[in-house]
Amino acid sequence: MQRLTNKRILLGVTGSIAAYKSAELIRRLRGAGAEVQVIMTHGAEAFITPLTLQALSGHPVHQNLLDTKAEAGMGHIELARWADVIMIAPASADFMARLAAGRADDLLTAVCLAGDIPLALAPAMNNRMWRDKATVDNAKKLTSRGILLFGPDSGEQACGETGPGRMREVDLLINDLADIFQVGSLTGKTVLITAGPTREPIDPVRFVSNHSSGKMGYAIASAAVEAGAKVILVSGPVALAAPDRVELVKVETAEQMLQAVQSRMPVDIFIATAAVADYRPVQVAKDKIKKQDEIMALALEKTPDILAETKARFPEVFSVGFAAETHDLEAHARGKLIKKGLEMVAANWVGEAAAASGGTFGSDTNALHLIWADGQIELPLASKARLARSLIEHIAHHYDDCQRKGFPKTNNVVNLKKPGKPVA
Ligand code: PMT
Repeated sequence: MQRLTNKRILLGVTGSIAAYKSAELIRRLRGAGAEVQVIMTHGAEAFITPLTLQALSGHPVHQNLLDTKAEAGMGHIELARWADVIMIAPASADFMARLAAGRADDLLTAVCLAGDIPLALAPAMNNRMWRDKATVDNAKKLTSRGILLFGPDSGEQACGETGPGRMREVDLLINDLADIFQVGSLTGKTVLITAGPTREPIDPVRFVSNHSSGKMGYAIASAAVEAGAKVILVSGPVALAAPDRVELVKVETAEQMLQAVQSRMPVDIFIATAAVADYRPVQVAKDKIKKQDEIMALALEKTPDILAETKARFPEVFSVGFAAETHDLEAHARGKLIKKGLEMVAANWVGEAAAASGGTFGSDTNALHLIWADGQIELPLASKARLARSLIEHIAHHYDDCQRKGFPKTNNVVNLKKPGKPVA
């Protein structure tokens, strides 16, 4: 059930004999890759213990509206903001009545009012309670407000009677819930993104690096999450907060970035946005280098080319490189596409060439020139967030094409020289 991967489900459990089924529901939702937090009404506690649901969801169960500790952390507003969807299963007749009346006198009803997200109910009650005019009216009121009703089903009931009112089976509820989410263009795919600069130490206080802020790579990571992917972000040192729902791996040097990337391969798609330092000092001084002569020469050697080496070792991974250029953008980008054996290159101007549009390093905007074996397209100047969404849609499209037709030949003998030859 890929549509539930990475989704945040807030599960409300109310007082009904069907509450025992919520344990299985949580287990199955987590198995489908969703994160689950639980709110129980006091009525639900008569049927199943909070401890059981805590153990299964991996989170403390939320129970009280007025909880000073919770209000500082996961109070009703935070819970509503956290979730992608709220599902109440089982939803008792009393809960439906209170929700229809717009009450907010316990945590669950308050969260339902505070949430601006899909809300679904799986009713569970005796068949005569379900058919009662009050419940019928409440169900109509709730659906007219856009609240979804999953079920109830008909059949034998816990009270021994037969009729409508049984909570829908867990399998069906999971399908109903998944239908709420659109299939993203990268649903079910794992995407690894590198971002930011690397720092190559000279001595304990100095390093060789560049101006990358990480903004472009972090925006791409968020866009890939939005598109439904599982995202690993390998980042050099930046001053940005970890994007939501991303596995963030922090590194400093090119060598560490190479290890972090290759130890997580293979993935479906690799996007190398990082501005990796091309050279590093041959020797790292143990102590701070003292100021002496007017001119000081630093011997540098090449760092590993993370993108080229990874593509050579994992040719089946759809790989997208970036190219930061000050002149002949298209020619250089196409050269990188071929030399590194990539499926796509996203080229951008840097330095003076990008000054008119606010620069590229560190700015909130950028423009990209996407190049692949038999085509290209310009993505005009936009915020990095917007540009990243557009880039992800192009990548997803070409990735699907490659899966159907096989990888195009950019053809490339990747020449992997060992880092070494020092340059002064
Ligand atoms: O971080 P921001 O401030 O938002 O700026 C964004 C950016 C300008 C850093 C970004 O858009 C960008 O262009 N990143 C790539 C910068 C770069 O190093 O380009 P390059 O042409 O030198 O490298 C080509 C490709 O090889 C890149 O995908 C790079 O990640 C990769 N590479 C380079 C050297 C190396 N040793 N290992 C690599 O993997």
